[in-house]
Amino acid sequence: MTTPFQHEPGSATGPVPPPQCPAHGMGIGPGGLRRLYGPEAEADPAGLYAKLRAEHGTVAPVLLHEDVPAWLVLGHSENLHMTRTPSQFSRDSRRWRGLQDGSVSPDHPLAPLFTWQPVCSFAEGATHERLRGAVTDSMARIDTRGVRRHINRYSNRLVNDFCGEGRAELVGQFAERLPMMVMCAIIGMPEEYNDRLVQAARDMTRGSETAVASNAYVVGALDRLVRRRREAPAEDFATWLVEHPAALTDKEVSEHLRVVLIVAYETTTNLIANVLRMVLTDPRFRARLSGGHMTVPEAVEQTLWDEPPFTSVLGRWAVGDTELGGQQIKAGDALIVGIAPANTDPAVRPDLSVSMEGNRAHMAFSSGPHECPGQDIGRAIADVGVDALLMRLPDLELAVSEDKLSWAGNFMSRHLEELPAGFAPTPQQEVDAEPLPAVARTRAHADWEVSSPAAPRRGPEAAPAAPRTAEPYATPGEGLAIPAQRSGPAKIWHTVVRWWNGH
Ligand code: HEM
Repeated sequence: MTTPFQHEPGSATGPVPPPQCPAHGMGIGPGGLRRLYGPEAEADPAGLYAKLRAEHGTVAPVLLHEDVPAWLVLGHSENLHMTRTPSQFSRDSRRWRGLQDGSVSPDHPLAPLFTWQPVCSFAEGATHERLRGAVTDSMARIDTRGVRRHINRYSNRLVNDFCGEGRAELVGQFAERLPMMVMCAIIGMPEEYNDRLVQAARDMTRGSETAVASNAYVVGALDRLVRRRREAPAEDFATWLVEHPAALTDKEVSEHLRVVLIVAYETTTNLIANVLRMVLTDPRFRARLSGGHMTVPEAVEQTLWDEPPFTSVLGRWAVGDTELGGQQIKAGDALIVGIAPANTDPAVRPDLSVSMEGNRAHMAFSSGPHECPGQDIGRAIADVGVDALLMRLPDLELAVSEDKLSWAGNFMSRHLEELPAGFAPTPQQEVDAEPLPAVARTRAHADWEVSSPAAPRRGPEAAPAAPRTAEPYATPGEGLAIPAQRSGPAKIWHTVVRWWNGH
């Protein structure tokens, strides 16, 4: 089962398949290791995970672009262990042996993702606490009801742009636009929302030729915002970061705004597109939605299991020699948080067709100290946005056959390219013109209204969930394995459950 990680970074000393071998030039590279990139990997990621599991178990040696070696963590329990043990598996990419010995070049195609930056995503320990604390404290000041009103109003504005046509391309005309509109309002620059900003975010996340210019455009807008807020504070996320007691520099504030804007855009766009695809194609959702049993938040949660917006995250770097899933990991090795493989790990989901309703133990938001702090905002944008769209266009149907849909991307994020839909043309609806309230919270207790029914949690956080076929939290060796919600106080779950039940 265990295959030692023999292929040294940057070397091509492993057995290369001979030209007559069918594996030559395909998904297998030096050392006989499977590539996580290229047409074969991108065409059938689930098939690739199955082969890797069969060959190596829960942690597999793989090759990244330019045949740089890394470990892909496939097991649910192993991913939890890795993300929750920063003393062994650090987020600081400067530990990568390949970077230190020059075998991973600074202009590697994935460099924008792994090049260390002074932001919370790459920080550990006290520095991480300081930076992340500023982000989560500022998020806690957001008025959740106000934001849900923004999301609803923006969704209706977007629908007004195409409702008279009887058809729409829902990725470009809805899924990509809504998160950017909402995030601009939250951050404090609603006037900056335009097609150019959406285009810039798309460029940056797709690494297109204009990515550098697009990055400069976004950074320019954020730097200006930070300068304005130093002089004239307002009730918005940028101001709260500027004024936070952690005393972030202007550059630190601007860099964190960039991380928030781009992560939120990429993930929430993917989530909305994937939820819409499921709603339009999956008979379970169609039947249950029209029968009134399945809510949009439940469709969102099932999508977070089956098609997580980030399929993997690069990554973690081993602090010292250690063992994971039976593999010997060397200090400085790179590891990939395998979100999609963890969510389909047969140990926690022996039957993928079984609904995961009420179970939030997926890895879509990762776990441990770096667990996504914006998850409730992402969920709210998808829940309210998809709900508003379906309310306006209840007869929405896919306009092409399902097999015509195509995906693009890489092992970290796959996105639906287009989602053409048809419906009976309907008149525009008046969208309330009165200015929306600022996003600042005014009430004493404004917990996020997570509309998805939260699975009660085991362990210190809550009580056991109802018995299920898959019990990820009962994974051997991990004990209490349900990812904890880091961004809010424990009482949020009680509020959430009460709100959900009474709504
Ligand atoms: C459905 C939507 C979203 C998904 C699936 C998602 C997923 C993730 C994942 C997998 C990570 C990496 C954690 C790790 O390194 O282990 C992450 C980090 C992060 N996300 Fe999200 N995210 C979403 C929405 C958002 C939104 C809306 C925001 C901001 C409002 C946000 C802000 C962040 C930040 C700041 C980090 C870095 C946290 C840290 O390193 O401490 N995310 N997210």
